[in-house]
Amino acid sequence: MDKKPLGKPDTLVAWMESLSDATRLRLLRLLEHQELGVVELCDVLQSPQSTVSRHLKVLLDQRWVRAARRATTNYYRMILEELQVPAQRLWLVAREQTDGWATARQDQLRLERVLHQRQQDARTFFAGAAGQWDQLRCELYGRHFGIEAMLALLPAHYVIADLGCGTAALAVQLAGHVKRVIGVDLSPEMLKGAKKRIGALKNIELRKGDLTSVPISTGGCDAVLCLLALTYVEDVQLAVREMGRIVKPGGQAVIVDLMPHDRDDFRRSMGQKSAGLDERQLTNMLSCAGFDEIQIKPLSPEPSAKGPALFLARAIRTGQALEQAR
Ligand SMILES: C[S@@+](CC[C@H](N)C(=O)[O-])C[C@H]1O[C@@H](n2cnc3c(N)ncnc32)[C@H](O)[C@@H]1O
Repeated sequence: MDKKPLGKPDTLVAWMESLSDATRLRLLRLLEHQELGVVELCDVLQSPQSTVSRHLKVLLDQRWVRAARRATTNYYRMILEELQVPAQRLWLVAREQTDGWATARQDQLRLERVLHQRQQDARTFFAGAAGQWDQLRCELYGRHFGIEAMLALLPAHYVIADLGCGTAALAVQLAGHVKRVIGVDLSPEMLKGAKKRIGALKNIELRKGDLTSVPISTGGCDAVLCLLALTYVEDVQLAVREMGRIVKPGGQAVIVDLMPHDRDDFRRSMGQKSAGLDERQLTNMLSCAGFDEIQIKPLSPEPSAKGPALFLARAIRTGQALEQAR
């Protein structure tokens, strides 16, 4: 610790004056370990708000504590390391001298009760809000942060192929979380929309190409995504085989598409080649393409969704299934 004496007598006098009050010493003892609001401090000190506020102002003026505003409340805290070194030393003496105070022990007990009450407040809030929480969560914070949080679980070194990327809605979301996204699509118009959406993002690359002959080298990506595109492909088996070729060993494929349905008007109006994909056939195709650990499950339809129900398939490219078949 710097033992250099203070040059200005005024500073030392002001510090000592601000410490020469029992209530202020009690406040500092509390605020050294815990950020507290005025109401909480009144509760612990059993003093009226006007008294506590007056003492806090003295401590603020002499920079013993700092205040931070959260919602409608000011919270106070003393951070020892932020004090000037002579002030730290003064405080250490004051604290040592007040250690044995019966009032300080009582303050400590009331502080524990106040902190316990804080936890109870959160519990009471959630006990009452549980029924409306989903709606409240969305109203207060929106829908996207949960998806962003889950995307952050992706390995940052991943190169992901988005096959049938369309206007790159997915690629743009992914780009902030992985090394690179390669979007592949056959339609120049969709690729034009994708280019516009991507804007200045540097780690998305668009390639024009067919899902049955993907313009990505063998083992050129860590994972492949294919959303709502396979029902447009004539030879689905060939497209799935291409997925197996471009994914590195250990990489994964995720497919979302339509479950089999009998809405032929829908299929025709959307220009789709098939009315959904059969689970058993897709499992077989993935297996033949070198994928293992294949899981296919229906997705719960969203209330506002007008199209047929969707499934999600995921599989790992181990290559074991291929070797066993040979
Ligand atoms: C319904 S969109 C889905 C786009 C995107 N995956 C999404 O979820 O928003 C289907 C996309 O697949 C593309 N597509 C259809 N057949 C394709 C093929 N054989 N090769 C490459 N892309 C194809 C279409 O151009 C279109 O952009």
